[in-house]
Amino acid sequence: MVASLVQPGTAPVWDLGCEHGQLWPFVPSRRVVGLELRHHLLTRRGQRPCAVMDGLAALAAAPGTVVAAGIGERVVLAALAAPALAACTQLVMVPSPLPYGLRPHVRACGWYCHRERLVAERGRFHVVIDARRGPGPAAGGADAELLGPRLVANHDPLLAPYLEDLVARRRHAAAGSPEGQFVAAARRLLATL
Ligand SMILES: C[S@@+](CC[C@H](N)C(=O)[O-])C[C@H]1O[C@@H](n2cnc3c(N)ncnc32)[C@H](O)[C@@H]1O
Repeated sequence: MVASLVQPGTAPVWDLGCEHGQLWPFVPSRRVVGLELRHHLLTRRGQRPCAVMDGLAALAAAPGTVVAAGIGERVVLAALAAPALAACTQLVMVPSPLPYGLRPHVRACGWYCHRERLVAERGRFHVVIDARRGPGPAAGGADAELLGPRLVANHDPLLAPYLEDLVARRRHAAAGSPEGQFVAAARRLLATL
């Protein structure tokens, strides 16, 4: 799913936090560059260029697409802040764990959610976000903006089970905390489906 959202023909594709390079066989671009903090993770796959370094430093002024899959929200938020991604045109993210503050931050940094998909894998839901530069379409309300404007607009078939799962797992989230606000928004959105 992640690879299918990478714009065809874009190069290079920067795989931020590539770990063992699990993504590479699926990305159509030959110019995938892996960026990984931990050297030992790269030793198993030498067939693509990769660098052992803080990917955020590598991305300054780099054109192309950045993929950030399974990376903590903190790193993705830092990547979105200028100048780290100043020159790239697409950011494909699989935020981990829940992206409480991610989407408002995406918008505040001058990006928007162009496409979003939900994937269910081994009893867990994952959100895949294809962000592009620009204002994008109207979000369709504050709750949709927080939880997935394109998931709501496109009636993603997994949206209701995703929200139900989210509310059930996080039912003890403290009201008023970012997590609690996220869960409250999920409850309200669920009631409208
Ligand atoms: C859970 S793994 C995700 C692996 C892979 N992207 C995937 O989706 O299967 C996250 C990886 O990101 C790396 N990482 C975290 N912050 C990074 C940064 N600033 N630059 C490069 N790698 C980073 C970690 O070392 C770890 O190997």
